[in-house]
Amino acid sequence: MIIAIDGPAAAGKGTLSRRIAEEYGFHHLDTGLTYRATAKALLDAGLPLDDEAVAAGMAAKVDLAGLDRSVLSAHEIGEAASKIAVMPSVRRALVEAQRAFARKEPGTVLDGRDIGTVVCPDAAVKLYVTASAEVRARRRFDEIRAGGKQADFAEILADIVKRDARDSGRADSPLRPAEDAHLIDTSEMGIEAAFQAAKAIVDAALK
Ligand code: DC
Repeated sequence: MIIAIDGPAAAGKGTLSRRIAEEYGFHHLDTGLTYRATAKALLDAGLPLDDEAVAAGMAAKVDLAGLDRSVLSAHEIGEAASKIAVMPSVRRALVEAQRAFARKEPGTVLDGRDIGTVVCPDAAVKLYVTASAEVRARRRFDEIRAGGKQADFAEILADIVKRDARDSGRADSPLRPAEDAHLIDTSEMGIEAAFQAAKAIVDAALK
């Protein structure tokens, strides 16, 4: 059983995916971390972000067991990840590893941008989690402020809009809902309500 969860940055799909995986006892993979780990390895080695062969070589070496969210969540790493994610040979290497993960028993939850469309088109359940850019920027802003740091709302919003454009506008595996995906718009919904909505869809699929 594979549950595919896609959506734009900061829509809440990470939190939702972790809760669903916990609820059903499934393995969870945040596929964004695989792009982030590749980008970080390039940055750490002082290698360019615009050389596809070099980036694909790094992608092939990413160890899914060693993905550390606290290290990889940095903003610069997300930006760099979004840039190398446009490269087809980087995507090929990472998608292969993601598909191997998806086969784990008793089931898996994968979240990202292209899980329902490309990585696992046969997933039993596909969710597309979204929210308006303003709401997503507001959540990011509140999160940063809650951590005691300064944040500029306009800058965060501009960043989210730019990231959406890059993720949706690329030729290879652009961000878009699969035709058979269930849409969950969290603009006016808390995480608990989103979880209940998702759970109802998964329970129906399990029957
Ligand atoms: O979800 P995130 O912010 O961790 O993702 C970082 C970048 O990785 C995102 O801007 C696009 C890319 N990505 C992708 O292209 N495909 C995925 N399945 C997951 C992430």
